[in-house]
Amino acid sequence: ALSVVTVKDLAGKRIVVTAGGTREALDPVRFIGNRSSGKQGLAIALAAAARGADVTLIGANLEVRPAASTGLHVVDVSSTLELEAAVTAAAPGADVVVMAAAVADYRPETVAQSKIKKETQGDTLQLTLVKNPDILRGLVESRREGQIIVGFAAETAEDREALVELGRAKAARKGADYLVLNRVGWTEGFATDGNAIIILDAAGVIVGEAAGSKTSVAAPILDLLT
Ligand code: CTP
Ligand code: CA
Repeated sequence: ALSVVTVKDLAGKRIVVTAGGTREALDPVRFIGNRSSGKQGLAIALAAAARGADVTLIGANLEVRPAASTGLHVVDVSSTLELEAAVTAAAPGADVVVMAAAVADYRPETVAQSKIKKETQGDTLQLTLVKNPDILRGLVESRREGQIIVGFAAETAEDREALVELGRAKAARKGADYLVLNRVGWTEGFATDGNAIIILDAAGVIVGEAAGSKTSVAAPILDLLT
């Protein structure tokens, strides 16, 4: 009989993974959000747990959930500020933080306490948005000695060269140890079951590349953490 043995090469490592997409409330019933499902972050969290890591999954509006039997610690959040608070609390005890979540760059300056009504708005509605904190940058700034911070970069570039170019610029801006680049678009990346990634190190050098299911592309990311 054929048996598959998972090597527990991440045993003893405490890994925090963020997944999903943050939502910013406009009023009690509406939000600004993005199409991230949380599948890629969940696949990384599950693969890390299978390889022996102690995994905390911080999920922003997850469309997919791990079974209780997987042993993941799940923290549910919704907005960017909630995600920031949860990651900031978990990071000091982590060997690795993987920021796979799609974080809203802006949030409404004010949240209406009752439903926004057409009657009072007229034919146009103007929203003022303010910039959210860059959680990844904050993690890099408070990184402990030896801690590994992994960022993601979602780009809508047309070709591979343009994608890598955008990734290198982002890697330099973010200062994370690794940046996982993936192309997103109307039909790619978000909410699909497959993904194609290019992994850059802090200097922008390509250190990994994979395409396939979100589970299969998790492997080369985790290989960097052993
Ligand atoms: N990120 C974050 N906090 C934010 C925005 C993004 O921590 N406020 C993280 C994401 O989780 C991801 C990485 O930063 O790991 C890159 O996100 P991305 O949206 O690709 O980059 P931005 O720096 O927001 O730049 P832009 O969206 O303008 O391309
Ligand atoms: Ca962004």
